Amino acid sequence: MLGQGAPSAVEPQTTDIAILGAGAVGQLICHQLHSAGLAVGLIAREISASPSEATDWQDLVFCPMPSNDANTDSVSYRVPQFGLNSTSLQQIKLLIMCVKAYQVLDAISPLLEKLSPQCHILLLHNGMGPHLALTPKLNGRGLSLGTTSQGVLRQSRWQVRQTGQGLTQFGHFTGPALNQTLQDGLLKAIPNSEWVEAIIPCLWQKLAVNAAINPLTALHQCPNGTLAQAQFTQIIASILDELVEVAAHDSVELNRQFLEERVYRVIELTAANFSSMHQDVAHHRPTEIEQINGYICDRASAHGLSAPINAQICQAIKQLSATKPKI
Ligand code: PAF
Repeated sequence: MLGQGAPSAVEPQTTDIAILGAGAVGQLICHQLHSAGLAVGLIAREISASPSEATDWQDLVFCPMPSNDANTDSVSYRVPQFGLNSTSLQQIKLLIMCVKAYQVLDAISPLLEKLSPQCHILLLHNGMGPHLALTPKLNGRGLSLGTTSQGVLRQSRWQVRQTGQGLTQFGHFTGPALNQTLQDGLLKAIPNSEWVEAIIPCLWQKLAVNAAINPLTALHQCPNGTLAQAQFTQIIASILDELVEVAAHDSVELNRQFLEERVYRVIELTAANFSSMHQDVAHHRPTEIEQINGYICDRASAHGLSAPINAQICQAIKQLSATKPKI
């Protein structure tokens, strides 16, 4: 394991970027920014001590993907961790929210009055919807959105292993744009990442992948690869048909054929994996169904349409989640 110049005591320092939500994706992004030399820290909702005690250090371990031509030793490093009362929150220029979609509003609410009015917010989660609810609460701050197909697994509370190197896309949504230096820093730090002109169509495309794969794998208790079987062809087609129609009413033109190819490519590339919703249901955790298939239904009703297959799927997942675990 390689150590990376960790400071030995709590020292004041300016942190440009803070990550809220240190799950698997949050820790992966944290590692990537830290190893590119960016001043990154974590926000820990559980630390709410007085301002002077509100900064701590967190040790993390990152395990790269096995590779023939790169060093795959684990890397240990430490980053500052701020509590909700830390005065350092005022210095943060970019807050990256890596919490689950259904946690975004509750997680950001106590922070909004503590962050500087110039702090830019970036949402990075599966599903869609929180950007619409958050926009009126931003008080003039800029909001960018992102989606990542990088694969990462949490091995213990502060140790993650990268399992896939997919594309990461970011783009501006509303308010002032993220400054160029921070944009460039993110793109340099995160392999295979890009800043796109229009992020919303990219989010709809990722939504299609999640809407087709996540609930079906949860309902049928199977790995992603099982969805390549003929018995799933019709339901996947119906999910996508409804999504494409609703997106068109939201002024997003999606190529139906391309979407279907993308869904089946992900099914093939991640055949042995269990989707995040499968895992959430299996561990009796809340799911992101409201922000995935539920978002398609919400946007359908906003346009006076219906999305019956997606609605049935939402219902089925909610019923499954409500089932008491067998003891
Ligand atoms: O949510 C997930 O599990 C992933 O986004 C995906 C792409 C469906 C692969 O499992």
